[in-house]
Amino acid sequence: MPTGDDRIAPRPPVNLHDWEESARRALGRDAFDYVAGGGGDEVTLRDNRAAFARWKVLPRVLRPGSGASLATEILGRPSALPIMVAPFAYQGILDPAGECATASAAAVAGAPMCVSTLANRSLEDIAKATGDGDRIFQLYAQKDEGVNVEMLARAREAGYRAVIVTVDLPPFGSRDRDTRSGFSIPADLGLPNIPPPPGHDGTLTPHDTSFLMNADMGWSDIERIVAEAGLPVVVKGILAPADAVLAAEHGAAGVIVSNHGGRQLDGVPATIDALEPVVQALSGRAEVWVDGGVRRGTDVLAALALGARAILIGRPVAWGLAAAGPAGVEAVLSTLASEFQTALTLGGVASPTEISREMVYPGRGSPA
Ligand code: FNR
Ligand code: LAC
Repeated sequence: MPTGDDRIAPRPPVNLHDWEESARRALGRDAFDYVAGGGGDEVTLRDNRAAFARWKVLPRVLRPGSGASLATEILGRPSALPIMVAPFAYQGILDPAGECATASAAAVAGAPMCVSTLANRSLEDIAKATGDGDRIFQLYAQKDEGVNVEMLARAREAGYRAVIVTVDLPPFGSRDRDTRSGFSIPADLGLPNIPPPPGHDGTLTPHDTSFLMNADMGWSDIERIVAEAGLPVVVKGILAPADAVLAAEHGAAGVIVSNHGGRQLDGVPATIDALEPVVQALSGRAEVWVDGGVRRGTDVLAALALGARAILIGRPVAWGLAAAGPAGVEAVLSTLASEFQTALTLGGVASPTEISREMVYPGRGSPA
């Protein structure tokens, strides 16, 4: 007969969903909701997950050597994994060391670390925590052009390999959970990479930070950032194939098919559904990455089969960080990597670069 404790005691997380439950217990409700929540009715947030279940994987068998390597190339550089840490803001609400904790764990796991403009730690400190690991700076272009030029120079100087320019925010999507809770970022966490808003008392709602951003960007601004950055530029927040083509025409080395994890405009397509038309429209003119709802090794496999070079994960990293600090981030990344290796092995392919389009098909249809 089990005791009451046996029945209710949480067990150690074994997958990325379990890490979300651990974080739910570790975080205050308002902070949890800020990270977990989405825009509007959260239809897109849910569909990012649901869409992965609609795609089916068609394995090949009796292929010796399958799953031998997870290594790939990202923007022409070798990467141990096709899995990256998505840029996400305010990691100080999750762990005292914030982005530095995430960065050191990402480096150990072999996953490139993307760092938000709205990090609670400085670009330089995060770079140090990353050590030899790959790091990428994510720019939220500010109204004050001088601030952008300075941030890009700092990123270059601190060894960031590329710049992601996020174009699906500002303004913030309609985040009802945050409007209800009035969630704000504690003043003492700081935003060392951007000058504080004039006259503010230090405590910021996420919404406040969006007023500092340039809400009037156009494609010529992308061209300007490409010229200024001196690093490959990747445009994040692309869903329409025509926008992907414009990004390439204006000098982007890559695009990220992303709906910001369902946090911005609700009702837009799940990213795994939006991916292939973008890949086809670009036909190799720029690299394609994808994020949103990737939680399983088979999701990584599907994304790569549909033409993505790499995937990014946001919330699972946040959950690992909140529940167990750097060890939690490392566990999240290594769990996903190990599931991906299992998917490659059982799918009959040796490495990410050998995954072919024939390995997935939409569940409604039949295998070719
Ligand atoms: C984000 N995201 C994000 N994106 C970005 O370009 N800059 C940012 O500062 C942030 N901030 C941010 C905060 C939080 C709490 C979340 C959850 C997300 C979006 C992020 O990069 C990515 O697109 C999504 O998180 C991917 O979806 P999943 O993996 O969270 O489902
Ligand atoms: C968010 C911003 C900060 O999604 O990107 O909350």
